[in-house]
Amino acid sequence: MLFSIKATRLAALAAWLGLAFSRSTFNPEVEGKDPSHVITRNVCIIGGGASGTYAAVRLRQLGHSVILIERDDHLGGHTRTYYDPAGRPIDYGVWVYSNNTELFDFFGHFNIPLTGLDFTRITQGTQRFDLRTGQRVPPPSGDLVDAMTRYAQILLQHPYLSDGWDLPDPVPEDLLLPFHAFIEKYNLGPAVEILTLYVQGLGDILHYPAVYILKYFSLEVALGIQGGFSTSASRANQELYSAARQELDGDVLLSSTVLGMDRSYSDMQRILVQTPSGKKLIEAEKIIVTIPPLLRSLQNFDLDSREESIFGQFDNSYYYPAVVDIPGIPNGVQIVNRGADTPYNVPVLPGTYVFTPSGIQDLFLAFFGAGDVNMTENQVRETICDNALQLRKAGFDIGEPKILAYANHSPFQLFVSAEAIEDGFYRDLYSLQGHRNTYYTGAAWHAHSSTALWKFTERLLQERVMNDLNCEESGTCPGDPEDPEDP
Ligand SMILES: Cc1cc2nc3c(=O)[nH]c(=O)nc-3n(C[C@H](O)[C@H](O)[C@H](O)COP(=O)(O)OP(=O)(O)OC[C@H]3O[C@@H](n4cnc5c(N)ncnc54)[C@H](O)[C@@H]3O)c2cc1C
Ligand SMILES: *[C@@H]1O[C@H](CO)[C@@H](O)[C@H](O)[C@H]1NC(C)=O
Ligand SMILES: *[C@@H]1O[C@H](CO)[C@@H](O)[C@H](O)[C@H]1NC(C)=O
Repeated sequence: MLFSIKATRLAALAAWLGLAFSRSTFNPEVEGKDPSHVITRNVCIIGGGASGTYAAVRLRQLGHSVILIERDDHLGGHTRTYYDPAGRPIDYGVWVYSNNTELFDFFGHFNIPLTGLDFTRITQGTQRFDLRTGQRVPPPSGDLVDAMTRYAQILLQHPYLSDGWDLPDPVPEDLLLPFHAFIEKYNLGPAVEILTLYVQGLGDILHYPAVYILKYFSLEVALGIQGGFSTSASRANQELYSAARQELDGDVLLSSTVLGMDRSYSDMQRILVQTPSGKKLIEAEKIIVTIPPLLRSLQNFDLDSREESIFGQFDNSYYYPAVVDIPGIPNGVQIVNRGADTPYNVPVLPGTYVFTPSGIQDLFLAFFGAGDVNMTENQVRETICDNALQLRKAGFDIGEPKILAYANHSPFQLFVSAEAIEDGFYRDLYSLQGHRNTYYTGAAWHAHSSTALWKFTERLLQERVMNDLNCEESGTCPGDPEDPEDP
C-alpha cells in the first residue's frame, strides 16, 4: 500500500528534494534518487540521548523498525564518561539515577549491573567558599530537616509534577511564584543550599517560577537523597549507551543532522539527513523528536506556524561540566561555591557550582553554570581554573589546575515565563503530541532526569505512538482529530 502511494508522489518528492538540495552545497543528482540512499522505517527518532536511545530500543522490542539520528559521534547526550590514564572511569555528566521500573528494566536488558549510591557520604566533606574571592562562607543556619520536610509536603500536594507538565487549570499560584517568594512563603531558607546544589544548570534560580525547581528537585530526587540513588556498578554510565549503540547497529546514524523535512503527507514523513557517508533520505510513518525544541535546533524542520509560535517562546540556560586535576585539596573534601553577600548565599554565576571529589586522588568534577550567558570554551576553562586558584586565598596549597575533560551541555534548561505558564503554555506544548505525525520527548517535555524521562517516554510509546502505528497497520484509525485552524 505504501508502495503505491510512494509512486503517485514521486513528482512531489522529486520537487521537494530539488528544493532541499538547492539549499545545501551538495550535488542534487547524487542522493534521494538512488534507492541505496533511502531508509524506510516505521519511526524516525531524532536525538540519541537518554530519551531517544530509550525510545529506539523499546520500539524495536515492541516490533517496530526505527532509525535514530544523532549529531554526536556517540549516543548518550548528557552522559559523559572520562577515563583517566590508568583507565579508571569518571562520570562527569549523568551521574546518578533515581530508582524506577524503567531504570531496572533498561539496565537489566543490557545486563549492566547497578549499585546504590549514598549522596550524604559525599556531602559530609563539604566546605563552602565564595569562589570569586576565596572567602569562607558559613553553612546555612536553621533547621534543614524541617525545611526539607515542608518542601516534600508541597511536592506531595502536586503529584502530577512527577508525570510531566499536565498542570491543573488554573495553574496553582504557588507554582508561579518567583522562587525567592516561594522560599519566603514556606520558610525554606535552610534548604536553599541543597536545592540549588541539585538543580544545577538552571541559572538564576531565585527568579525562576517555583514550578521549575519543583520539577527538577522532584519527589523522586528527594527519595534518592534520603534512601539512595542508583548508578552503574562500573561507574561508567556511558556503557549503557555503548551497549545500546551495539544493539541498534544499522538503525543508528551517528554524526548526522537533519537537512530538510517534509511532513505534508499523512502516511509517510520524509527527512533528509546529512551523514558521514553522504545524504540519506528517510521515509518513516512517525517521527519522535527528542532534541531541545528551540527554533535554532529545529532550523531545518518544516515547522508550521503553530509549532513555530509555541517553540519560539522557549528560552534556555547554559551549563558546562568538566573533570579537573586540582592538587592540594585534601581527600574527601567537596568545595561548594556560595555567594558571600547574596540572598541565601546562592552562588554568583557564571561560576563553578561545586568541585566534587571523583574518588580518584586530585581529580574533581567541576559543574559550571553560566545562567543565560553563552560562553566560549576558553572562558569556561579559565573561570573554572580561576575558581580553583581562589582556594589558595582560603589557605589551601593549590597546585596548577588542569582541565582533563570538558563538555558543553547547552542549551540546558528550557523555560518560559510564569505568565506564559499561567496562560497555558504547557497545555499548548502538549497539544503538539501527534500533530503532523510527530511526537516529542526529552527534558523540555518533562524534567532533567534520565529515569523520569524513560518513564515519560515509555508512556508516550504505550499510550500514543504504538496505538497510532497499530491502527494504521490495521486501517482502523479514527479520523485526524487535531489540526484545528492554524493560529
Ligand atoms: C552535567 C549533567 C549532569 C547530569 N546529571 C544527571 C544525573 O546525575 N541524573 C539524572 O537523572 N540526570 C542528570 N542530568 C540530566 C539528564 O541527564 C538529562 O535531563 C537527560 O539526559 C535529558 O535527556 P534528553 O533525551 O532530553 O536529552 P539528551 O540526553 O541531551 O539527548 C539529546 C541528544 O540529541 C542530540 N542532538 C541535539 N541536537 C541535535 C540535532 N540537531 N540533530 C541530531 N541530534 C541532536 C544531542 O547530541 C543528544 O545526544 C544531568 C545533565 C547534565 C548536563
Ligand atoms: C535504589 O536502588 C539502589 C540499588 O540500585 C539502592 O541501593 C537504593 O537504596 C534504592 N533507593 C531507594 C530510595 O529505594
Ligand atoms: C553560542 O555561541 C556560539 C558562538 O560562540 C554559537 O555557535 C552557538 O550556536 C551559541 N550556542 C547557543 C546554544 O546559543
